[in-house]
Amino acid sequence: MKLRVAIGADHGGLALKEELVRRLGDNVELIDVGAHEFDANDDYPDYVLAVGRAVASREADRGIMLCGSGVGACVASNKIRGVRAAVCHDTYSAHQGVEHDDLNVLCLGARVIGIEVATELTIAFLMARFSGEERHVRRLEKVAAIENGMNSAPPDVDEGIDIGADDEETELEPLDEDEEEVDEPEDDMDEDQLADSQ
Ligand code: RB5
Repeated sequence: MKLRVAIGADHGGLALKEELVRRLGDNVELIDVGAHEFDANDDYPDYVLAVGRAVASREADRGIMLCGSGVGACVASNKIRGVRAAVCHDTYSAHQGVEHDDLNVLCLGARVIGIEVATELTIAFLMARFSGEERHVRRLEKVAAIENGMNSAPPDVDEGIDIGADDEETELEPLDEDEEEVDEPEDDMDEDQLADSQ
């Protein structure tokens, strides 16, 4: 059975999506949610919603969402329950995100990468499978708990939600180099310990 892939893009990602769709051809079962024509005034959340819903409802196995940077697509995608999205512009993250974090929506920035890199990232993402290893399942359960509001602190009702717009200028504390904590890699890790530490 072919992998079912929902794909979408705003005007920033449209040209790259069209080329990616052409390259994917009939190797996957594509659900192209648009945009289908250039409209400089279209908004990425509309396509994010269509891709995210297809993935969350399991109509699609995976989603790919393209915008100018991939960032807006990623921010919006992660608001949809059941969606785990990331901008991955390197192949390690594109497959490791699936293997460890059960990434199900890949976000790409068409103003950042070109078609060759986008194709390799897409292949790495689509070929990868969640490992199912206990430590990753445990971490995903904690992620799901955050999504379900179980671990998150409620906003302070008296002060409202602070989005930082009216913040007074804040000064960063200079980094005291003497206090800097550096995680030294352990020299004598064997392969299993190394795998378990990731
Ligand atoms: C559209 O101009 C652009 O903001 C959008 O495609 C995306 O890059 C947002 O993150």
